[in-house]
Parts: sequence; C-alpha cells; structure tokens
Amino acid sequence: MEVLDVRVAAVLRSRLTQYARPPYVRWPVRMTAPVGRVSPRCPTATGNRGGTVPVFASKREETEPPCHTENNNMEFPLLLLLLHHLHFALCLFFSLFFNATSHMLLLKNNTSPFPCNFLFGTSSSSYQFEGAFLSDGKGLSNWDVFTHKPGSYTFNNSHSSSIFCTIMDGSNGDIAVDHYHRYQSLNFRGEHGSVWFGFKVKLEPNRSKKGKFGKVNKAGIDYYNRLIDALLQRGIEPFVTITHYDIPQELEDRYKGWLSPKIQEDFKYYADICFKNFGDRVKYWVTFNEPNVAIVRGYRSGLWPPARCSASFGNCSHGDSETEPFIAASNLILSHASVVTLYRTKYQKKQRGRIGIVMNAIWFEPLSNSREDKLAAERAQSFFMNWFLDPIILGNYPEEMHEILGPDLPSFSRNDKQKLKTSGLDFIGVNHYTSYYAKDCIFSACEPGKGSSRTEGFALNSPQINGFSIGQPTELDWLYVHPEGMEKIVTYIKNRYNNTPMFITENGLGTLEKPNPTIEDIINDVKRVEYLSSYLDSLATAIRKGANVRGYFVWSLLDNFEWTYGYTIRFGLHRVDYATLNRTRRFSALWYKQFIAQHTNKACLSSS
Ligand code: GAL
Repeated sequence: MEVLDVRVAAVLRSRLTQYARPPYVRWPVRMTAPVGRVSPRCPTATGNRGGTVPVFASKREETEPPCHTENNNMEFPLLLLLLHHLHFALCLFFSLFFNATSHMLLLKNNTSPFPCNFLFGTSSSSYQFEGAFLSDGKGLSNWDVFTHKPGSYTFNNSHSSSIFCTIMDGSNGDIAVDHYHRYQSLNFRGEHGSVWFGFKVKLEPNRSKKGKFGKVNKAGIDYYNRLIDALLQRGIEPFVTITHYDIPQELEDRYKGWLSPKIQEDFKYYADICFKNFGDRVKYWVTFNEPNVAIVRGYRSGLWPPARCSASFGNCSHGDSETEPFIAASNLILSHASVVTLYRTKYQKKQRGRIGIVMNAIWFEPLSNSREDKLAAERAQSFFMNWFLDPIILGNYPEEMHEILGPDLPSFSRNDKQKLKTSGLDFIGVNHYTSYYAKDCIFSACEPGKGSSRTEGFALNSPQINGFSIGQPTELDWLYVHPEGMEKIVTYIKNRYNNTPMFITENGLGTLEKPNPTIEDIINDVKRVEYLSSYLDSLATAIRKGANVRGYFVWSLLDNFEWTYGYTIRFGLHRVDYATLNRTRRFSALWYKQFIAQHTNKACLSSS
C-alpha cells in the first residue's frame, strides 16, 4: 500500500510540475499524517485585506514555497494534463442532531425560538480542511493547481529572490488541517470537550481517460463511508455539500470547466456516485456552495481559479468579465437542476433525503431613503443572490438582470425551462456574515467600485460608502458586524421564495492572530462570542416572525485554509497550531456548546 501510494504521488507530482516547475520538484512526498504544515519560507507580508499577516513557524525548513521564483520561466500548458482521476470535492457540513439521550436539558421553561429538530452545528469544507492532496489516488483539483501557480503576492525568500504567490501567505491546502488522516483518531465527544464536533472531508470518484465511464475511486468511497458511519454513531447528522468551489482540474483542461455545458453531465455522474454510495445515510444534500462567489471570483475578478477576467476587472491572461460569468452561471444552474432531477427521480423516494443549494447572502442596505438607492439595493441582491435562486425556484433570471443585460444574459431554452420547472430545491442554504450599503449608479454619479458597472447591476456596494459604515469593522476588511442583517436577509428570502425552508449553513467571525500569541490570546475569543450571539439573536427574531429556518451552523469548527488569505485568517471555534496541527478549544466553543444546550427544545427531545 505504501509503495503504491508513493507511486501515485510521484505520478501526480510530475504532472504538477507541468504546471509549474522548479519549486515543486523539491516538495516532500507526504504519505503519512504530517507533523507540521508545508509552510512557505515567505516572510511577513502586509496583506491588502486587513492588516499584518502573521508569519507561520515552519518545522519544514526543507520545504520550498508553493509559488514561483522570479527566475522561473514558466509556461502553463493548459491541455497537457489528462488525469486518470476525477476529483470533485465533497463538502460536508456537519450538524448535530440531538437525540433523547442528550444531557442537554438545561432549560426548565424552554422558551427557545428554535423549533423542534432544529439542527445546530458547525461547517467546514473539503479543500480547507482535508489536506492529503496526493493520497489514495486523488486527482488534482482546480484549487490544487491554482495555489501552486505564480500570483501577485510577492515575498523574498532566504536567497533574496522574489517569490510570487496566488495565496497571501504563500501557502496552499496540501495539508490544510489534515482531517483526511485525523478523523479516525478524533474523539468527537471527548477530544474537544464538546458534543457537537464535526468536520468535513472530500470524495474523489476515480475517473479514467475513458471519460465518465471510468472506474470510481474505491479508497475515496471507503473513506467517506467510514467517516459518515463514525459521525452517525456519535449522533451527528452529516449535511453534505457536493461541490464547495473545487472541481477537477481535468474538467478545466478538457473543456474550460463551467464555461462548457458539458460539465452538466460530469456533475450529474459524480452526484449519482454520491447518492448511490452515501444516500442511505445522508439525508441533506447541497449541490453547490456559494456559486455566486465562485463564479464572480473565477470569471469576473479572476482572483480565484480559473482566474479569468478582463483588464478593467483584474489581472488575468484570459477571460471576459462581462460575459463569461453569466455563461458559467447558466451551466451551473442547469447542472444543479440535472442533479436535483436525478435525485428526485432515482433516489429521493427511497432515501427520503432533501436537496438544496447554498448561497452567499449579503444584506444590502440602501445607502439613503431615496427611491434610487432602494432600487439599487434590490438590484445588488438580484445581481448577487437572486441571479441563481430565481431561475432555480422561480424559473427565470430576475427582471433587473434581463433589463440591464439584454442579450448578454444567456437565455434558457424551452427544454432548460422545463428542467428548471420540474427540479427546484427542497431548501435554501444561507451563508451570511455581513451587510453592505448599496448606492445607485444609474441616476446618480458613482465612483468606480464593486457593483458599479453595468454587468454588476449599477449598484455600488461596500460596507463603507461616503464615510458611512454599515457596522462595527472587524480585522477583515470585508466583514462588518451588522447583526440586523441576519433578520433582514432571512426575511427577504422568506418573502421572495415563499418561505422555502432555510438553513443558515455558515455564519462566523474571522480574526487575525498576533505573532507569538499567549494562551490568553489564543483562547479568549470574546469578540467571536459577541458576534455569534448577536447574529443568533437576530436569527431568532426572524424565526419568531415566521421564517422557516431549520438549522444554523457556525463557520467554522476549526481554523483552516481561508482561500486566498491562506492561513492568515482564523474562523475556528478551535484554534489550530499550524506547526503541530494541534487543536485548542477556544472560549467560543464552550459558549456554543452551552448555547445549544439552552436552546434544544425540551418538548422536542421528549417526543423524539
Ligand atoms: C464562505 C465560504 C467558506 C469560508 C467562509 C469564511 O463564503 O463558503 O469556505 O471561506 O466564507 O470566509
């Protein structure tokens, strides 16, 4: 097994070198659980999003940074890679399902607004948690490749030459927090002292060169089976996301990923494998996590893979920010519809699960009481969230999008419309963190900025406009504390989509860590507790007023790889020491445990 693993790793490594050469050939082959992060030698850098980026102590001095030196004369041969392994990420949001044996009956006269069988939990994602990027026959994902490509973050290495990285701290998700290896030794109820422990892993159905009729990766299936069983045995309900941003690089190389309608068939094939193998135990399925973020960053700003954009929107070598996001979105929406139809026709009756999609949901507050700004806030919502939810639930794109984009908005064929009509969803997943002001850019003069262009809906949006701040700033430049936004966005979704069941699939506060933190710095995350408590309070108000919300998950269980911010931002209820990968429970973890106990409805428990 060891020999086989090393061989597979060597093959994949040599394929990676086709994307980027010198730094990678010196990477360590990591086949067993690592003792420390593959950490760059990149020095402290000042990020452009929220202050100083801490340096990570690396125990792996031999490891080179996963980005390019200035001497590298790199090419990026897009079509060179034909992987044998299809790799989609399976993102699991784990939530708790408390049963009658729970010891959580703390409240005598329970007045909790959270209804019976409300799921409290934490969320996580495959690429951000799992690591093991070359283990067990896994293929390369677009994020594996992207994080190893040259980018615009510059560091000086120990030889005083510059290194260019796509990730702010020069890191990647090769190891992440190593959940792939660590789940088996976890004592869900003991190690972290909480009963709601959960984490997420990924699935890699193995695909051969023969396309979708290739072999499925048995090791991946076995792994997920073990994991799902382990969770259920501990009373944890798996809430599974089929794709959390990452797709197989192979699909990018073959036909440009989401830009091609071909992806619909591949996505359906992959989902079928998931339903078939896990659907007897998994009762909550999410097709996509935040397609509105993945598409905008991948095809408009180009900040994420596949890094496509036009010059006025970012710094990319290919792409068209004005048209491609809409093409990619259209293929993604139809992929969702195909998978829902598949689940409904082939599995749902027998497996009795539910299927939905998760959107990033920002509350857009009009900057003023003017009619223009109110319309701008509506447009901002339509061009961000309703862009996806309207076709899926109501059958077509929002009216504002049709009016402004005209023929640039791909139209759905009669067949597509029929497909959308018969698929839909069973629930809406809401990832809500913050609110922005929205300002009209049609009737009023508007400075350039996010949202102000035609294809973004002419609605400038930002947490701060003209000196007005939507809420208390945090250490992250995009996250302002505005708890009222939770009630408002939930109520907005309730009204627009006929009170479709909702789950708050992510909510949380990210923080930076001081260099050489004391134990007090690590554990005492009072700000996170204040944030969570105020947002939960606001959610409770929405529920009291009739919103059909069925669950709430904190992002995140553990600190993890925060996309282009690397490991600089920490969202965990548990802190991860990236040198040792040790986990330490923060105050927020204890607080959340207590909160769940107080809000678990006694009447529900006794009737379950
Ligand atoms: C969400 C995303 C997560 C995580 C979180 C914190 O939008 O789904 O993967 O990164 O933001 O920023």
